[in-house]
Amino acid sequence: MKTHLFSLVFLLFSLAQGLHPKCDTQDHSSNLQVFHIYSPCSPFKPSKPLSWEEDVLQTLAKDQARVQYLSSLVAKKSVVPIASGRQIVQSPTYIVRAKIGTPPQTLLMAMDTSNDAAWIPCTGCLGCSSTVFDYAKSTSFMPLGCQAAQCKQVPNPTCDGSACLFNMTYGGSTIAANLSSDTITLATDPVPAYTFGCLQKTTGNSVPPQGLLGLGRGPLSLLSQTQNLYQSTFSYCLPSFRSLNFSGSLRLGPVGQPLRIKYTPLLKNPRRPSLYFVNLMAIRVGRKIVDIPPSALAFNPTTGAGTIIDSGTVFTRLVAPAYTAVRDEFRRRVKVAANVTSLGGFDTCYNVPIVAPTITFMFAGMNVTLPQDNLLIHSTAGSITCLAMASAPDNVNSVLNVIANMQQQNHRILFDVPNSRLGVARELCT
Ligand SMILES: *[C@@H]1O[C@H](CO)[C@@H](O)[C@H](O)[C@H]1NC(C)=O
Ligand SMILES: *[C@@H]1O[C@H](CO)[C@@H](O)[C@H](O)[C@H]1NC(C)=O
Ligand SMILES: *[C@@H]1O[C@H](CO)[C@@H](O)[C@H](O)[C@H]1NC(C)=O
Ligand SMILES: *[C@@H]1O[C@H](CO)[C@@H](O)[C@H](O)[C@H]1NC(C)=O
Ligand SMILES: *[C@@H]1O[C@H](CO)[C@@H](O)[C@H](O)[C@H]1NC(C)=O
Repeated sequence: MKTHLFSLVFLLFSLAQGLHPKCDTQDHSSNLQVFHIYSPCSPFKPSKPLSWEEDVLQTLAKDQARVQYLSSLVAKKSVVPIASGRQIVQSPTYIVRAKIGTPPQTLLMAMDTSNDAAWIPCTGCLGCSSTVFDYAKSTSFMPLGCQAAQCKQVPNPTCDGSACLFNMTYGGSTIAANLSSDTITLATDPVPAYTFGCLQKTTGNSVPPQGLLGLGRGPLSLLSQTQNLYQSTFSYCLPSFRSLNFSGSLRLGPVGQPLRIKYTPLLKNPRRPSLYFVNLMAIRVGRKIVDIPPSALAFNPTTGAGTIIDSGTVFTRLVAPAYTAVRDEFRRRVKVAANVTSLGGFDTCYNVPIVAPTITFMFAGMNVTLPQDNLLIHSTAGSITCLAMASAPDNVNSVLNVIANMQQQNHRILFDVPNSRLGVARELCT
């Protein structure tokens, strides 16, 4: 039965490869198409395609910066982003189409489950890309004043005249924004008086070019602001990098969510209420549960330790003792007549084709077994294959495990905040 299901999935997968993406399809009901930033529908594709190796190395560097940023959030202390001399564009990987203002202006905003606020580049912004929201053309745009309740929820608020301004850092960037409100339309749902930061100035290059849609669960997040409409429930299915012509979906609200889905409780760290922590209890490689010291996985709201699900990191990062145990067992189970090699931060690569064991994340109440597609990356020439996970950066006192988007691809991930649970089901994202 299982085997049949898998062959069917593979058949569909193969048939669907090569289909043209439908970039102009309008989003309907509460479903938004989700595009990979390298999708033919994305304006953010690199202008000069990178080689596979360059791309992997750049993605790893971006991930490193993001994991450091996420670690600094939980540790509540700033971590200096690594400066590698190269330009690291640390924007999240997936974008959705949102319409802002009246009449609506379309922007392709980055999805980020580990951030609350939304920000949008506005006319006159210094350091933003050329696609901006022209607020002067929107009849429903409103600047928010210092007296507004929301002004107390933004980081570092200041008043200029009566305007509420705020600054924050995002990865290696800083942003300065005016707190504002306008109608945002997601698929066909208008959200009137949506509060966001109208960007006035940015530095660095971590800021997504057409704005950020925060899907965290703290104050000012989309979830908090659309409580009545979506009841703090959403799910997504992220398309694989290898099927760039696919789009996935972001489904907002409880309607249409899968009924057959496994759940694990969501945990809340009061110091970082926006992050989605889960209880990762053990990891199995093939049939063997690997030996990981409990402290490497334990949830600890005081230190920020534990495991989060993040849509913006590409490759899963485990703290060193957990990663080492997984990697060693993985290597033991890959029996090929070749030595292990490395590629950048990936330390388990092979120059010959391999058959890899599955890896199972054993969460409280839910086992998620990942097939090869979620575990291995292959060079375009097929000459190198790597285990697509890495150790958390060791130059910070790292305590955070991050389940990243490559490991979530072709699964539906359901965030059910009212019931404090996270659901996972296999799904081919088309
Ligand atoms: C995506 O579509 C383009 C244009 O039709 C095609 O040339 C390309 O091969 C497709 N890519 C994949 C990965 O299917
Ligand atoms: C942002 O605030 C500054 C300072 O108060 C003001 O000059 C500017 O017009 C505001 N911009 C927007 C878009 O509200
Ligand atoms: C925010 O950034 C602006 C522009 O960089 C700066 O002038 C201002 O002092 C900053 N405000 C705060 C509260 O850090
Ligand atoms: C693996 O490395 C060892 C030591 O460097 C070498 O002797 C051996 O020939 C290598 N094996 C293969 C299959 O390349
Ligand atoms: C997960 O798998 C283990 C065996 O490796 C099993 O003992 C456990 O009951 C499973 N958990 C769930 C929730 O199915």
